[in-house]
Amino acid sequence: MITDNHGREINYLRLAVTDRCNLRCSYCMPAEGLDWLPRRELMTYEEMLRICSLFITMGVEKIRITGGEPLVRRDLVPFLYKLSEIGGLRELTLTTNGLLTGDFVSDFKEIGIKSVNLSLDTLDKDRFFQITRREGLNKVLETMDKLLENDISIKINTVVMANKNIADIIPLVRLTQHLPVSVRFIEEMPFNGGTHQVTLDWDHRHILDHIRKQFPAMEKLPDAPYSTSYNYHIPGYKGKIGVIAAYSRLFCGSCNRIRITSTGVLRTCLYETGSLNLKDAIREGCTDAELRKRITETVLKKPADGWEAQDTLMTQHREQESMATIGG
Ligand code: GTP
Ligand code: 5AD
Ligand code: SF4
Repeated sequence: MITDNHGREINYLRLAVTDRCNLRCSYCMPAEGLDWLPRRELMTYEEMLRICSLFITMGVEKIRITGGEPLVRRDLVPFLYKLSEIGGLRELTLTTNGLLTGDFVSDFKEIGIKSVNLSLDTLDKDRFFQITRREGLNKVLETMDKLLENDISIKINTVVMANKNIADIIPLVRLTQHLPVSVRFIEEMPFNGGTHQVTLDWDHRHILDHIRKQFPAMEKLPDAPYSTSYNYHIPGYKGKIGVIAAYSRLFCGSCNRIRITSTGVLRTCLYETGSLNLKDAIREGCTDAELRKRITETVLKKPADGWEAQDTLMTQHREQESMATIGG
């Protein structure tokens, strides 16, 4: 078990397999995309398997695969099979934009993936194009149907943006009437590749007030211990609604998460730059015992919250980062 200096047991690893994406969401990156990382800077699947095995022996029970869009990396699905074969995980899952996901639903089932987080910011075709700068809404909706038909549960991640998708909040809430999905509205965070300033106009309270006006009967649900979202339910509806105070950082105190970027950097907080590069350490010939020691030392120093971590981020002038390079 890895425990940090604040007594938090770290058992949830987010692993980014690529910085590339087949969408260009405006809250994540500029229209022209990012300066994509050259292949040699990415961890290989072998390196990722070794790192994950190590973390599992150290108490990690849940691994979420992220990106960029994880499925744009070639041979991701064979990697997922191998990862599941290591054993010892309670949950293997991924966050995806749903464009390429539909073709792999039966593989997911075979691998034992029980839930998928799907990024979807609008149900309107034109707004989908405005936000993502690509076509693809129908594909995402098809993926959603396929996942549900196969009993794989879905959390929809919706980043709430003033002047972009406020009109989508209520239609997305209505989706929970007939579908057993959890729709989670996320505060926009300032990780967009430096393209624009982010304001907290639509923070979690504003989002909730907006929904409550339309659905006054909405009830609070109990939240799972390490949940990023505060969860709600409208009586008679099949699904759930959540708000994620990602920019207000209200859930940091109980954070059980660490992340590894696609280049192998271990980041103990979304708002921290990271000091240990596991890929480099492996390529320098580190043994498992040495890696374990360096991981333990790094995780111990996990900041108390995102505010503390942000101080390091700002002093290192890294505010131009994109969510796709950090790994969500
Ligand atoms: P579950 O495992 O289903 O609870 O998912 P999750 O919320 O951990 O992950 P997901 O990839 O679906 O991310 C949803 C939103 O929460 C995204 O906007 C993430 O960037 C944000 N998020 C995830 N982890 C953190 C974190 O450590 N800090 C902050 N501030 N936001 C986070
Ligand atoms: N603010 C909040 N959430 C973001 N995501 C990507 N960029 C941002 C941002 N700037 C979300 C994606 C995905 C999850 C991993 O992070 O929508 O669902
Ligand atoms: Fe791609 Fe996700 Fe960034 Fe959108 S938020 S461009 S889906 S990595």
